[in-house]
Amino acid sequence: MREYQQFAQFYDALMGDGSSRSARILEAIDRFDVGATSLLELGCGTGSVLEGLVLIPRLVGLDASAEMLSAATAKVPSAEFLLGDMTDFDLGTTFDVVACVYDTVNHLVNYEAWESLFQGVARHLKPGGLFIFDLNTIGRLHQLVTSPPWVHDFDGNTLIMDVRSDGDELTLWDIRVFASAGDGTFTLHQENIRELGVALETVRTTLATDFDLLHEEDDSGNPPTDESSRAYFVYRRQG
Ligand SMILES: C[S@@+](CC[C@H](N)C(=O)[O-])C[C@H]1O[C@@H](n2cnc3c(N)ncnc32)[C@H](O)[C@@H]1O
Repeated sequence: MREYQQFAQFYDALMGDGSSRSARILEAIDRFDVGATSLLELGCGTGSVLEGLVLIPRLVGLDASAEMLSAATAKVPSAEFLLGDMTDFDLGTTFDVVACVYDTVNHLVNYEAWESLFQGVARHLKPGGLFIFDLNTIGRLHQLVTSPPWVHDFDGNTLIMDVRSDGDELTLWDIRVFASAGDGTFTLHQENIRELGVALETVRTTLATDFDLLHEEDDSGNPPTDESSRAYFVYRRQG
């Protein structure tokens, strides 16, 4: 089954708004002075990040889930949304900024797909444009695998999310939402999502072909390692 089909209707209630992710993107644009008039978000989901970027005149969001895009279209009517695969896309245009955030890159389950994504980003960035993304690290994914399932009540519904190993550095996120019908009965919505962990040095080496590293940090503002919780990157397209 396609990912983010079942989960889409609960995504915003569970993940909150995307304002901190938008703020991080705006901070990088400001800091590296790209004067962004166009931005593409790959794996834009329900549009929570683009919602905080509406001062940028041209916004495009691409996602593989029609259900996530349906929410995004309603949330950010001024943006253009495209159903597609971020490992294989050709929009015939370039952008000042390409963003791919909230461990969306980790959703690609083999490293060849990461390389295809990075090549697509390079093709769609103007020379000097910014590539802004974050990653769940190998250490973070290991930690989630050894942690108990996350149980969370929201809007009368209950989420149970269990992250398991699916071989090597691949993890399987078993997501179950027991949705209340309001009459004491519940409907189960279940979905499996996979995330791959990759050593940060492997990613840096791949990106060095087309990009210059401008900034990287972990959640505490320190240089990220494979044991950091999350790694944030800002790269500049060469040329
Ligand atoms: C964790 S969500 C992040 C959504 C959004 N970036 C945010 O910060 O709220 C990951 C998104 O990536 C999308 N996605 C996963 N694999 C994809 C692919 N190969 N091509 C396009 N979108 C993909 C999913 O459909 C989902 O909407």
